[in-house]
Amino acid sequence: MPNQAKKGSILIVDDEKGQRDILRVILTKQGYDVVDVPGVREALKQLERREFDLILTDLKMQDESGLDLLKRVLADDPQQCVILMTAHGTVDSAVEAMKKGAFDYLEKPLERDNLILTLARAFERIGLLRENRVLQKRVEAIQTIPNMLGEHPKMREVFRVVAKIAASTSTVLIVGESGTGKELVARAIHDGSQRRARPFLAINCAAIPDTLIESELFGHEKGSFTGANAREIGIFEAAGGGTVFLDEIGEMNVAMQAKLLRAIQEKEIRRVGGKVNIPLDVRIVSATNKELEQEIRRGNFREDLFYRLNVIRINLPPLRERGSDVKILTEFFVKKYSQASGIAVDGISRPALKLLMNYIWPGNVRQLESVIERSVLMAESNYIEPEDLPVEITAASALAGGIPFELPPEGIAFEELEKGLIIKAMERAEWVIGKAAPLLGMSYKTLQYRLEKFGIERPERRNKSY
Ligand SMILES: Nc1ncnc2c1ncn2[C@@H]1O[C@H](COP(=O)(O)OP(=O)(O)OP(=O)(O)O)[C@@H](O)[C@H]1O
Ligand SMILES: [Mg+2]
Repeated sequence: MPNQAKKGSILIVDDEKGQRDILRVILTKQGYDVVDVPGVREALKQLERREFDLILTDLKMQDESGLDLLKRVLADDPQQCVILMTAHGTVDSAVEAMKKGAFDYLEKPLERDNLILTLARAFERIGLLRENRVLQKRVEAIQTIPNMLGEHPKMREVFRVVAKIAASTSTVLIVGESGTGKELVARAIHDGSQRRARPFLAINCAAIPDTLIESELFGHEKGSFTGANAREIGIFEAAGGGTVFLDEIGEMNVAMQAKLLRAIQEKEIRRVGGKVNIPLDVRIVSATNKELEQEIRRGNFREDLFYRLNVIRINLPPLRERGSDVKILTEFFVKKYSQASGIAVDGISRPALKLLMNYIWPGNVRQLESVIERSVLMAESNYIEPEDLPVEITAASALAGGIPFELPPEGIAFEELEKGLIIKAMERAEWVIGKAAPLLGMSYKTLQYRLEKFGIERPERRNKSY
């Protein structure tokens, strides 16, 4: 089914089935995403599950009142748009409803054109309110990095610092766990600088063997080592006038660290096997998921190089510390993957979102993105439900909440579940095997074996190659 953007979502509340059916047909035809329920209780249940742009409720239902619903709803969200439907001659209660914060009221029997017009007006206002909120956020965020979302104060601080320092030539060290957006920030710094028209070249220090890294960075002359069949320039030369991004700098070996330090200090480089010095004209931005200060104490990282690279430091917080950013990012990725796949998914249910908000995200935003990509493909309806989420999320929540985990009818991927539980336990035990083992009712040896079997490593230590 092609993914047609819906005009907006409406919850219809009316105890008369005939009335609901007519409304649903008309409004669906108009392009709205419509759900209908027979009473206040059912409406509140729906609202626990998901948000609606607009609620269209009958005023007098058998033993409930649309006014009660209005009150409850506005207490939760004063911006919620509610329209009441009143029987002819009960205008007094309609006025009362308007005073209590309803957007408008419609007199029954409903008149089709009037209904459509009133809704169109309501959605115009909903759109304006939303734009206002977006605008306000733009102003507050000073400069937002393209495609980098975040409202958490720590992320706002990141945006502020990036905007402020992009134009300078100082080195920048970006520190953050895997998948927190270090490369996005590095690119944003380049794009915000005078150097933006020149190349941005990235190298992953963890992915290149020690024997090749010098040549990758500085280039080499023909015949300088076996396999050097021709002169080749390195990325410091190739990026001339631009930016070099040294990813996972913490993995660079100590010998190479010394050469890099000299290059920065002398502002020149020499190709491997070369005799001439070539001026160094790049800005260096590096990134690490390690505590470099700790690596210095352990003798794995040169302190003098650290101070050269760490002139400006940007810390990216882990996703689990960013609160409602999970929600914003989830909505962003749902839209992205729904559009990319052509599968119409309009959002995520509240229980599913809650699971995501409570998860610990060892792989941070990258992991969230791939979870949403998969969930969009798995979604059984136009809203992502807990069942559509991968088992590592649901199992982690079962463990955290002590909820007895039920075997779903289609069965489960047991190894995935086990892996998820082990990661969760290790995280809770701060990666001390001896502390995690009792949480899982395992011996130290058994857990150690399983960690190896699944290749589970502490995220900061994981070496990734691209
Ligand atoms: N705040 C954000 N908003 C939107 N997308 C984000 C955000 N942060 C990260 N991403 C996305 O998550 C993925 C990982 O980001 P990135 O490659 O910059 O992380 P990283 O910190 O360099 O990770 P690693 O340490 O594993 O290399 C990318 O696809 C990126 O677009
Ligand atoms: Mg990266």
